[in-house]
This record gives sequence, C-alpha cells and structure tokens, in this order.
Amino acid sequence: MNNFKYRNPTKILFGKGQIENLATEIPKNSKILMLYGGGSIMKNGIYEQVKSALSNFEVLEFGGIPANPEYSILLDALKIIQDENISFLLAVGGGSVIDGTKFLSAATLYEGETPWELLTNKKPVTEGLPFGTVLTLPATGSEMNSGSVITRAETQEKLSFGGPGMFPVFSILDPEVIKSIPQRQLANGIADAFTHVMEQYMTYPIGAKLQDRFAESIMQTLVEVAPQVMSDPSNYEAASNFMWSCTMALNGLIQQGVPGDWAIHSMGHELTAMYGIDHARTLVILAGNHYRYNFETKKEKLAQYAERVWNITEGTLEEKAHAGIEKTDEFFKSLGIDIKLSDYTKDYSETGSTVAKRFTKRGWEGLGEHKSLKPSDAQKIIEMSY
Ligand code: NZQ
Ligand code: ZN
Repeated sequence: MNNFKYRNPTKILFGKGQIENLATEIPKNSKILMLYGGGSIMKNGIYEQVKSALSNFEVLEFGGIPANPEYSILLDALKIIQDENISFLLAVGGGSVIDGTKFLSAATLYEGETPWELLTNKKPVTEGLPFGTVLTLPATGSEMNSGSVITRAETQEKLSFGGPGMFPVFSILDPEVIKSIPQRQLANGIADAFTHVMEQYMTYPIGAKLQDRFAESIMQTLVEVAPQVMSDPSNYEAASNFMWSCTMALNGLIQQGVPGDWAIHSMGHELTAMYGIDHARTLVILAGNHYRYNFETKKEKLAQYAERVWNITEGTLEEKAHAGIEKTDEFFKSLGIDIKLSDYTKDYSETGSTVAKRFTKRGWEGLGEHKSLKPSDAQKIIEMSY
C-alpha cells in the first residue's frame, strides 16, 4: 500500500427530513446565495423545503445553471456574489450545480487576471467562500469531494480543478429526492458512480486489501440496487443505498494508498465538450474498450473484479478478466445506455485524432496509473468506441 494523508472535512446529514436542519448548519447572519439548475427543484418540492428551512436568513437566488456547468453563466452569478457581498453559497442540485458552486467559491477569492485560470493553472485551491449543498441527484460524489468540472462552450473545453479548499462545509443527502429523477438521470448516476470506483480500482495489485474490498462492495451494492432504483425510485431502501454508494464512490476513501487511472474520465470529458453527450454516457462508451486496449497491464485486477463482483469462478485469469469486461458492458446496457459513440453522433470520424491533438497541445503525454497512456493510445481507444 502507498503512503497517504487523508482528511475529509465535509459533514454529512443523511436521511429523510434532513433538509429541515439546514439552518443549523449555516453561520448565523450569513447572506446566502442559493444556486440551482434548470428548475427541477420547483416541481418536486425541494425548493419549498429549502426556502422554508432558511426563512430566518437573507437569501438571494441564482437559477439556470445547466448540466455541464457553463463558465459564462457562472460569471453572471459571480457578479451577484461580489455586488451583494454574499457570505455563504448553497448549492441545491446535482453535480453540475455543486461543481458550479465550487467554481464560484474559488473565483470569489481568486486574485489572478481571469477566473478561467483556476481551470488551467493546475494549482490546488486552498481557500474559497464557504458553501454547503443539498444533493438532488446521486452520481458524481461532488457533495463530499473537492473536485469540480467546468465547461466553456465558446472554446468547447471541459476542464477540472480542485483542492483542499473546495470541500463543502456540509451536504444534505435525503434519498427521498430520488423520486422525481427521470430514468435517464438515474441510469447516468449509477453508471457514473460505478465508473468512479473502476477508475480507482482497475489498475494493478498493490496489496491494499481493504481498499479493494471497499471498492468491490460499492460496485456490488450498485449492481444489486440498480434494477430496484430504476423500476421504483420511491423505494426508500434502494434509494438510500444508491445515494450513499455514489457518495462513497468518490469521497476519497477508496483512493487512499492505491494508484488511480482516470483516463476514461479525461477522454470522456472531451466527448461531452465536443458533442454534449451526458457525462456518464461518455464513460460507458469508453470503459470497455479502455480495458480491452490496456488488458495486459490491468488483467489481474480485471480478473479479481470478475470473480468478486460478478462471481465468475471458471477459466484462466485472462478468461475471467475478459468476462469481467463483458459483464461491465452488459450492466451498462441493462440500464438502457447505448455503448457506442455512433449511437450519439453521426459526426464521429475525426473524434479520436481531434482528442489526441488536444491532449498533445495540453501536454497530457501520459495518462493512467502508469502515466504511459499517450495521446495516440487515447486516439485508438476512442476509435475502437465508434
Ligand atoms: O437542472 P435541473 O432542472 O435541476 O435538472 C437536472 C439536470 O437536468 C436533473 N435533476 C437533478 N436532480 C433532479 C433532477 N431532475 C428531477 N429530480 C431531481 N431530484 O438532472 C439533470 C442532470 O443534472 P447534473 O447535475 O448535470 O447531473 P450530474 O449530477 O450527473 O452531474 C454531472 C456533472 O458533474 C461532473 C460532470 O462532468 C458533469 O459536468 N462531474 C463532477 C465530478 C466531481 N465534482 O467530483 C466527478 C464526475 O466524474 C463528473 O465529472
Ligand atoms: Zn464521473
């Protein structure tokens, strides 16, 4: 196991009715900017719950943060924060609203020329305006981690940033919010969380037995509850297991002391930036082929995954590893997700080479756990996924 330092300061309030406790988590006399997305919270009662919990605070609102939070829209919110002297940010939404709020938290205190530098300067962000979240969509883990991904339509870029100053002060996780989530987003949430675990697990053996079993148990739980959540989002037990699995998949715990891959995400963000494909679906398009392409360096973990998550006990190590990849694709298909790029766009013939050029330009010469996946390899994986 590798050395590690681990600290996660985010307080979690989990369960039915926890939105009521919002007021006790926000410093008295705060001037709050409440941030939300395209309006789902108006239809499912979450807006009302939040507003009534905050009745003793001064609350301004900023709605309209789109899926894949857009830089130019966030700049409008930044102006309100500065003009109105906002002292606390409250994200009410999924990963996009939370990531947008993290950007605003950092941008408010940023002293460089333009806040876009937060996305390009690769410096860990150590301080930001304090913020909390009310999670409405289990998927990204953003509610308990310090990362954020921001999109800029003007340049077709989607880049990430983060740092120890970007953890939410608190996050409210009420599984009842799942009732109103459309099937497409439920499937996305399951696939995204599952891939988060794979990115931190499907590398090479390093003797971290507990982290491996944490990871496997999250994947097993997601496999078990996925059909229940999809067929009945008001099943509270399934919803609560789904929600907590998504948070645990990317709150830092399972990545301590182990190598991480994250190449699927790096390539996937390009597909979203170029075609607007939902984040989770870009991962589904690439995951199986990423493992096929990097089979030799990942086969031990693939075989262990096949055995422990999918109960594949017959065959050689290689046969089990291949079966694990097939099971993964089948699982994603069972969620109703298409697994080829050509299912999403007809304009794909140059995608691989375009992504390779972008990676080269950014100096991303070696991705993955061995830092050896070159832009030309990314090109081939993407081409396998057409
Ligand atoms: O905008 P509204 O109207 O609220 O509707 C949203 C949105 O259209 C809807 N929704 C959310 N909660 C709902 C609901 N609809 C009904 N009932 C509810 N309770 O769902 C749609 C998608 O929301 P979004 O926040 O975009 O989804 P998700 O949580 O999947 O977030 C995706 C974003 O997070 C980034 C992705 O790249 C993408 O930009 N990620 C962030 C990560 C992180 N910070 O750690 C890691 C991930 O790998 C990922 O990259
Ligand atoms: Zn993801």
